[in-house]
Amino acid sequence: MFSSKTSLLLSLCASYAAAFTPPARLDIPLLLSPGGRPMMGVGMSTQTQNFNFTLTTSLGYTVVAGKGCQECSNTNLYDLSLSPSAKSLSGKPAVSLGDGGFQGSLIKENCKLYTSNGSSWPYPNQTIIVADNQSQGSPFTQSISGLLGLGTLKNPTDSAGFSASFDDGLYGQYYIRNPDASNFTFGLDLKPSPVIPGNGSDLTLGPNAKSLADGNVGTLHWLQPDQSAYQADKVQWKSVQTSITSGYLANNTQPDLTVQLDGWAAKIGSNNVAVTDPILVNVDPYYPGIYMPMSEARLIHDAISGSQQTQQSTIPGQTNSWIVPCDTQLQFTVVISQQRFTVDQSVLIVHQGDGTCLSIIEGFTDSSVTQYIFGQNFISQLYVIFNIPKSGISSVGFAPRTVSSTASRDIGAIVGGTVGGVAGVVALGLLAFYLIRRRQDNTFFKRAAEIEEEHKVASTVEPYTFGAASPSLPNPYAAGAGYASPPASAHAPLLGMHDAGAAPPPTYEEASESGLPSPRGYPRDAKMGYYTDRRETMMSGVAGGSGSGGSPPVSPDRSAFTGSSIV
Ligand SMILES: *[C@@H]1O[C@H](CO)[C@@H](O)[C@H](O)[C@H]1NC(C)=O
Ligand SMILES: *[C@@H]1O[C@H](CO)[C@@H](O)[C@H](O)[C@H]1NC(C)=O
Ligand SMILES: *[C@@H]1O[C@H](CO)[C@@H](O)[C@H](O)[C@H]1NC(C)=O
Ligand SMILES: *[C@@H]1O[C@H](CO)[C@@H](O)[C@H](O)[C@H]1NC(C)=O
Ligand SMILES: *[C@@H]1O[C@H](CO)[C@@H](O)[C@H](O)[C@H]1NC(C)=O
Ligand SMILES: *[C@@H]1O[C@H](CO)[C@@H](O)[C@H](O)[C@H]1NC(C)=O
Ligand SMILES: *[C@@H]1O[C@H](CO)[C@@H](O)[C@H](O)[C@H]1NC(C)=O
Repeated sequence: MFSSKTSLLLSLCASYAAAFTPPARLDIPLLLSPGGRPMMGVGMSTQTQNFNFTLTTSLGYTVVAGKGCQECSNTNLYDLSLSPSAKSLSGKPAVSLGDGGFQGSLIKENCKLYTSNGSSWPYPNQTIIVADNQSQGSPFTQSISGLLGLGTLKNPTDSAGFSASFDDGLYGQYYIRNPDASNFTFGLDLKPSPVIPGNGSDLTLGPNAKSLADGNVGTLHWLQPDQSAYQADKVQWKSVQTSITSGYLANNTQPDLTVQLDGWAAKIGSNNVAVTDPILVNVDPYYPGIYMPMSEARLIHDAISGSQQTQQSTIPGQTNSWIVPCDTQLQFTVVISQQRFTVDQSVLIVHQGDGTCLSIIEGFTDSSVTQYIFGQNFISQLYVIFNIPKSGISSVGFAPRTVSSTASRDIGAIVGGTVGGVAGVVALGLLAFYLIRRRQDNTFFKRAAEIEEEHKVASTVEPYTFGAASPSLPNPYAAGAGYASPPASAHAPLLGMHDAGAAPPPTYEEASESGLPSPRGYPRDAKMGYYTDRRETMMSGVAGGSGSGGSPPVSPDRSAFTGSSIV
C-alpha cells in the first residue's frame, strides 16, 4: 500500500522532472539590409504579414513600424486592421535608440522567427510597440520594418504611461509557455559590419558594401548556442549589472544586458595605452562600431600620429570618429576575466573610398558618458552567448571561436601585418607558401580557401589565457605586476606602456631611458610605467607600417534566406 503510493509519487515526480526537454538549437540566418544592418525574417499575426527585423540588446520590446508611420520609408509596414490576432492595449510608449526615436501604440500579437531550414519558431502573445512615427536615425527604413528587442525587461521600464515587465518580452512569454524551463540561451555568430562612420543620419556604407545587400552577416543560434562555433571550455561569463544609475541613455532605455568587463589595452605601432579599471559595456549588434567615453577614445587616437577627429559617426550627433592614416597599426584588446580578445586594424580601420581611412573606435561627444558599446564589428571577432534565466541574474558569455582559432593564430603570425592592404591573391600566395611549408599540400586549396575566408572575419582574434600558455609572463592587470605607484587619475588610470624590444624604433630614446630590455611580443613583454607627459611618450615615433590597414572585403555570399522565400 504505502510503497505503491510512494512509487506512484516517485514516478509522477520523475515524469514531471522529465517533462521539459531542453529545446534543440534553431539557426536564424541574419542577412545584411540595404541600409547596412543585420536583419532576420519575422512573421506576425495568424494571417501572416512578413517583415525584416533588425535586432538590439538595448531594448526588451518587439517593435514594428505600423501603416501610420509616414517617416518609415522603403519598407513593409504592419497593418493592424488586417490582423485577427492583434489586441490593442493602452499606452503610448516613446522610445529612443541610438540617435533615433519612435513612438507608437501597444498591442498583443503572435509572432514567429524564421529559421534557416524554412521552419519557424512561434512566439505568441507578445507585447509589441507599433511605431506611428520615428525621428531621423531610427531603424525603420530600407527594408527594416521592425526591431527584435533582446533585452530582458527584468528591470521594469516606464515609458509614457506604459510599464513593461519581464512577461512582456520574449523570455517571460517563453517561461509562461514552458514553466519547467530554467534558462533561455542564445549565441551570436556575426560577421563584420560594412558600415563606416559617415556624415548623415542614415548609416554610411563602405566602398564595395553596396553589393553586399542580402549577404549573409551571420547566424543567431537560438535556444542553444552552437557548441561547434566556439571553444566551450574558454567561455568567460559576466553577470549583467542590475542597477546602473548613470550611463549614456535615458532611464527608460538603459540596456539591461550591460556587463562589467575588466579593462582594455590598445597597441598603436609600438606605443601602448590601457585602461585597467573595470568598464561597463553594452554588447549590441544594433551598432556597428566600438564606442567609448571621449577621453578614452582620444587617448587611443592621440597615439596615432596624423589622426584627426571628425564629425563622422555611426551614431550621428552622439559620437565622433577619427580620420587616421590608412597604414595605422592598431590592436585593441579587451580583457574579460582570464582572457584577452584582440581586434586589429583589419577591423578597426576602414577605407572611405577616397584614399582616406577612418577608425571605427568612436568617442561619445557627451563627456558625461562613462559607458561603452561593443557593436557588430567587435562581436564579429568572438562568439557571444546570452543567458536569461527564469529567475536570477542574466549573464553574457564571451568565447573564442573554434573553427578559426588555430588557423587564425597561425595565419596571424605569418600574414597578420600584411594581408590587410594587399590583394587577396597575394594573401593567398602567402598562405600557399605557409601551408606548403606546413606540408598540408594535399588539402591545400580547400584549406587555403577556407582560411582566406576565415581570415576575413577571424584572423584578428588572438584570445588566450593569462599565464596558461606562457607561465613566466606577468598579468599586467594583476596586483603588483610591476606598478610602482597608483595611477594618476582615479577615474581611469591611463597607463603608458612602452616596448623596448629587440629592435627599438629610432625615435624611442625616452622609452629606452626608463625601460628595461624586454622580450619580444605584446603585451607580455611590455615594460610599464607612468609618464607625466603622456603625449610626448605616446606620440613618439610610430614604427613603420607594412602597408596594411585595409578592411578586407566581406564576401558577398548570398544565402538561402530571402524575403520572397519566406512564406
Ligand atoms: C527544421 O529544423 C528543426 C529543428 O532542428 C526541425 O524540428 C524541423 O523539423 C526542421 N524543419 C524542416 C522543414 O526541415
Ligand atoms: C511622434 O508623435 C508624437 C505626437 O503624436 C510627438 O509628440 C512625438 O514627438 C513624435 N515623435 C517623433 C520621434 O517624431
Ligand atoms: C499573455 O501575456 C500576458 C502577460 O503579458 C499574460 O498575463 C497572459 O496570461 C498571456 N496569455 C496567454 C494566453 O499566454
Ligand atoms: C541553466 O540553469 C541551470 C539551473 O539553474 C544552471 O545550472 C545552468 O548553468 C544554466 N545554464 C546556463 C547555460 O547558464
Ligand atoms: C563628410 O564631411 C566631411 C567634412 O565635414 C567631408 O570632408 C567628407 O568628404 C564627408 N564625407 C562624405 C562621405 O560625405
Ligand atoms: C534616472 O531616474 C532617477 C530617478 O528616477 C534619476 O535620479 C536619474 O537622474 C535618472 N537618470 C537618467 C540618466 O535620466
Ligand atoms: C527583406 O529585405 C529584402 C531586401 O534586402 C527585400 O527584398 C525583401 O522584400 C524584404 N522582405 C520583407 C518581408 O520585407
